[in-house]
Amino acid sequence: MNPAGTVSSQGTPLQVARPYLIQQNWDAYTPEQHAVWAELVRRRMPQLREHAAREYLNGFEQIGLREDRIPNLSDVNRRLGPRTGWNATPVSGFLPPDAFFDMLAARQFPTTTYIRSRESMEYTPEPDIFHDVFGHVPMHAHPVFADFLQHYGRVCAALMGDRERLEKMGRLFWFTVEFGVIRQNGRVKLYGSGLISSHREGTHVIEGRPEIRDFSLDQVMEQKFLVSEEQKVLYAVESFEQIYEAAQEAEKRLG
Ligand SMILES: [Fe+2]
Repeated sequence: MNPAGTVSSQGTPLQVARPYLIQQNWDAYTPEQHAVWAELVRRRMPQLREHAAREYLNGFEQIGLREDRIPNLSDVNRRLGPRTGWNATPVSGFLPPDAFFDMLAARQFPTTTYIRSRESMEYTPEPDIFHDVFGHVPMHAHPVFADFLQHYGRVCAALMGDRERLEKMGRLFWFTVEFGVIRQNGRVKLYGSGLISSHREGTHVIEGRPEIRDFSLDQVMEQKFLVSEEQKVLYAVESFEQIYEAAQEAEKRLG
């Protein structure tokens, strides 16, 4: 991690990402915006306490997220940085792929600071701080997941311009970081941010509607998906080491 937030792990400036880096103006959030955060968290937590991976729930505590107010990213990073070197770095919105991968490779997670309105509680097409921080960042406190995600960024950064290989890597991201599930104590638990942050998607899995297959890098890399639909197939890992090894294997095959 680096305090300036603009230097990559290779020691070179994050030139490509620089135009997208912003500050979080935490004092500017309104009581209504904090209330939206609180309502979103309170809606998700009863289900997650029972159905989220223990690593997610531990991470939530470790980075100091609270139910009653939008997180201040400086506070999150003060707790997260010493654990795994990851940083939730404020950005203005969607990043182009090269900037996104560069940031992951530097253990900086592009984090939007905007929060959805009450009219779009269930779904927001643009990423927001609820999806990015509540959905993603707790897993970054887990050392193996943290290493996996950085490695994923490095592999993708090296594949820039190769659309076909990047599409395969995109599927690995989708079926782990966004829609990953893990088997713990004989049950399927959620850890992907799309399942954690969406009540509808999380409930869909808990009700047993998607087919849950054993994780296979071969299958994942070939598995098409639609962003706009509930997922029909998901891939369950037995441990987070499995996705770390998958990123290593993907590098060997595609790199
Ligand atoms: Fe996401």
